[in-house]
Amino acid sequence: MSYANSRIPTSAQQGVHERLVRLVERHLAEPFRKPYADYNRVAVDISLAAWDGRAPLILDAGCGVGHSTIQLARQFPDHWVIGVDQSADRLNRRKPYPDALLPANMVFVRADLVDFWRLLDDAGLRLARHYVLYPNPWPKIGHLARRWHAHPVFPWLARLGGVLECRSNWDVYIEEFALALGMTSGKAVPWETFQAEVPLTPFERKYRDSGQTLYRLTCDLGAGLADTHNDSTTGAQR
Ligand SMILES: C[S@@+](CC[C@H](N)C(=O)[O-])C[C@H]1O[C@@H](n2cnc3c(N)ncnc32)[C@H](O)[C@@H]1O
Repeated sequence: MSYANSRIPTSAQQGVHERLVRLVERHLAEPFRKPYADYNRVAVDISLAAWDGRAPLILDAGCGVGHSTIQLARQFPDHWVIGVDQSADRLNRRKPYPDALLPANMVFVRADLVDFWRLLDDAGLRLARHYVLYPNPWPKIGHLARRWHAHPVFPWLARLGGVLECRSNWDVYIEEFALALGMTSGKAVPWETFQAEVPLTPFERKYRDSGQTLYRLTCDLGAGLADTHNDSTTGAQR
């Protein structure tokens, strides 16, 4: 596919998946105890090694090649910005600046977010800002459970607090994410279309240059949820 000819996800699913609400309710009611992989524990240590313990934290979850992580670190110079992706190949791709010009208040780390999110919570950490930019949409009806908001780890996003922003080029994804985040956080989660004047990520640039409508939601989750290990609001247990 040539550049600026990217397609909007096509799906037989035209609105919120009929099974989503029941799935999120189940994830809120049942414990999620998938064991942590050692490399994800190491990744959390690496991501915090140069943090001064005081700077507010920003997580760029699924940062891909990391251009958004760099932009966020420039935009919030007094924050510590962590770019996480499972793909070493994407993380290692050449950046738009020489290493010497990269902001010092950020780090890239390879990890699986399914563990990374929970490990941050286990460490008692809370986020100031949290970005989930153009996550894989998994548009097939049968792939609902692969979307972040239908995954058992999703309640941890609300636990981690901060201003959460998700962007997508598929309206159904944003509508579902907003619904699920509303269920896990108890907050109203509005979503909207927007113009990406300065694209934050390569995917955003590609979608914008292909003339697609872009969607985003933001929600201030405040301090997140208390670390009760069996919270009655979310049912999230470890
Ligand atoms: C469609 S890309 C978007 C990348 C980037 N945010 C952007 O907008 O250019 C989705 C990214 O999420 C990452 N990802 C998917 N599942 C992940 C997981 N379980 N843990 C960490 N990263 C994951 C993929 O490797 C990929 O880089």
